[in-house]
Amino acid sequence: MIYFDQAASSFPKPPEVAEAMYKAVIQNPANPGRGSHRLAREAAGIIFQAREKAAQLFGMTDPKKAVFFHNATAALNQAVKGFNWQEGEHIIATNFEHNSIRRPLVYLEKKYKIDVTYIDWHEQDNKIIDQVEQAIKGNTRLIAMTHASNVTGAVFPLKKIMEIAKQHGITTLVDGSQTVGHMDIHMKDDQIDMLVFPGHKALLGPQGTGMLLVEGDIPLIPIYHGGTGGYSKLIDQPEQWPERMESGTLNLPGIAGLLAAMEAFEKGKGRNVPRETFLINKLLKGLETVPGVQIYGPDQNPNRLPIAAFNILHANSQEIAAILDSHYDIAVRAGLHCSPLTHETLNTANQGMVRASLSYYNTEEEVDIFLQAVREIAESYQEF
Ligand SMILES: Cc1ncc(COP(=O)(O)O)c(C=O)c1O
Repeated sequence: MIYFDQAASSFPKPPEVAEAMYKAVIQNPANPGRGSHRLAREAAGIIFQAREKAAQLFGMTDPKKAVFFHNATAALNQAVKGFNWQEGEHIIATNFEHNSIRRPLVYLEKKYKIDVTYIDWHEQDNKIIDQVEQAIKGNTRLIAMTHASNVTGAVFPLKKIMEIAKQHGITTLVDGSQTVGHMDIHMKDDQIDMLVFPGHKALLGPQGTGMLLVEGDIPLIPIYHGGTGGYSKLIDQPEQWPERMESGTLNLPGIAGLLAAMEAFEKGKGRNVPRETFLINKLLKGLETVPGVQIYGPDQNPNRLPIAAFNILHANSQEIAAILDSHYDIAVRAGLHCSPLTHETLNTANQGMVRASLSYYNTEEEVDIFLQAVREIAESYQEF
């Protein structure tokens, strides 16, 4: 099997990830934060180490504000819905949002009549930045945006947008689901207030893990309430972080795996991006030469993610993905990729797109086999 669906969930993972998870399951059955015996203390120690590692890797100040969720979607829901929203307030997002931001925004639009402006992605960064500046209103409270498109791999000019937000006193939320693990992100340097990422994509960690990192004093209201181990006497959710944001038992094996993934990522820092970039450039160059193939996304942006989105003539993207799977044993994603907004923008809502996404573990040989497969499929469609 050639696995080119890394943007959905990465495979394989570094062996250390599986080892850490196995160890957590076999050696530590305890509930972190829910006891003072040795095993519970050890479990809590792993969790805290993971908070510290995330804080260090992504440039945030207080590891207690590095909180765990079961995926990026849950973390994004907390970040988007966790404000004392007043009717009519304004949010800026992009037209490349995943449903994990878009649906919480639609919920706010319906519940609080929140007004949302979706800015368009553009090949030229200054055209994006101009739109952000023009969209800001007196009551703009939040910029909630993806760092990069999960469909085309196009990257937004994050630093500049965060700078503008700071100048206007607007809180920022960055969905780093596709970029964390591929690109350097430093919350303090980049002036990001809230950063969300899943463990299971480019960080090469396990599914069932996601984090929300909060820099500074953002008055987030928890959307979950419940047991927090400590502070049991309080009938309200505690004020203290991380307990404030983490109700219920944490996913110790998952977080142990995520910690191992972050450590592996740290060791290989500076290595991942060039290799994946080399592979995706080769893949894109190859696709360009196949008659009938249309490629979507940024042309020459050096910041693009290792994602190639394309279609073959007018063939349904799901059909192409099914042929790649059944005839060639190649896994890609097709359809709308949980981001119908992107497809409305790019006029591909009916056809969807085929998305090939790569990781550090993919090889040149796999890219060659994939290109040959696409060539053969495109030829067969030309015959009709
Ligand atoms: C940009 C983006 N945001 C959010 C998500 C949601 O991630 P998860 O499924 O881990 O909640 C994804 C997953 O594909 C994504 O690509």
